[in-house]
Amino acid sequence: MLEHLPRIDLLDGPTPLQRMTRVEAHTSHQSLWVKRDDFMTLGLGGNKLRSLEYWIAEAARDSCDILVVAGAPESNQCRLTAATAAKLGMDCLILHGGNPPANEVGNLMLNRLLGAEIRFLGPVDEAERGQHARQAVADLTRGGRRPYLIGNPVVGALGYARAAEELARQARTMDLALRHVVLSGSMGPTEAGFLFGCALLDLGVTVHLISVEYSAEELEARVAGIVDGLCRHTGIDLPAGWQQRLAIHMNQLGDGYGRPTPASIDAVGVAARLESFFLEHTYTAKTFAGLLQLIADGAIAADEPACFLHTGGTPALFGQIAREPSLLGDGHP
Ligand SMILES: Cc1ncc(COP(=O)(O)O)c(C=O)c1O
Repeated sequence: MLEHLPRIDLLDGPTPLQRMTRVEAHTSHQSLWVKRDDFMTLGLGGNKLRSLEYWIAEAARDSCDILVVAGAPESNQCRLTAATAAKLGMDCLILHGGNPPANEVGNLMLNRLLGAEIRFLGPVDEAERGQHARQAVADLTRGGRRPYLIGNPVVGALGYARAAEELARQARTMDLALRHVVLSGSMGPTEAGFLFGCALLDLGVTVHLISVEYSAEELEARVAGIVDGLCRHTGIDLPAGWQQRLAIHMNQLGDGYGRPTPASIDAVGVAARLESFFLEHTYTAKTFAGLLQLIADGAIAADEPACFLHTGGTPALFGQIAREPSLLGDGHP
């Protein structure tokens, strides 16, 4: 459906769609699945690698030789940009807000191993960080380099329109009629791309966004803005009423972005002890906790097949637990 758009393959084929039989037994649900976007060969994988397939195609079109990306030291997007640059023989400049931490673990440590140049900007907000990134691009250009700035949300969202198609194909092959997909609600590109793909394919699933960052109004506005951008970018109009398939849930946000909750601590334990995959507290643990709550509330009925979209981010867990050992929890599911 998006085959006409430039893309460079970074994924080595579809990610696994696995049945969570032990979580089924734990929740008395009949059909629970996980789409393992944490399981990709390049740079430990994660959702942003699907976006990078489209960003890198633009960089190649413009003969760029250095990728510039801005984010928090824990950013998975920064790590996957550094990994992509290394694999493709490009340079990578990472701009982090804040000051260097005493111990470099998780994504930050991996960025060093991947050979990225890392600059800390001190205390800056998101807008200032963006300005620094644009300034870095201008400086590099003046110095004779050809930089590409990672992050256009509409181009990045294309990766998840494609993921929706991939998931639909896998489900069809397994004769699985998915009724619900649960994913993180954050900045919006992953969510918007996935919704765009579901609407185009008329998949008939409810897409549950578990907000981990913004209010429901802001998340919905972000997603709608990116979906509009996707329609313009691809020249494809969506059928009216695509929003009816969207449900936003605010009950896992707790004290805010990046702040663990009792439910996220439980969720990390359930996923590890029952299914042997790892979640981290900023995105996927809260989202998995949201899935468990939707099942407990009956909002996802026991006979309606549901899929958790694991968007990756596992390296962040190492830093989170190193800073806060109590996150290991003590309970068994
Ligand atoms: C592991 C993980 N899941 C989900 C998200 C949210 O994706 P988006 O920014 O497209 O909303 C991110 C963002 O970096 C992420 O790293």
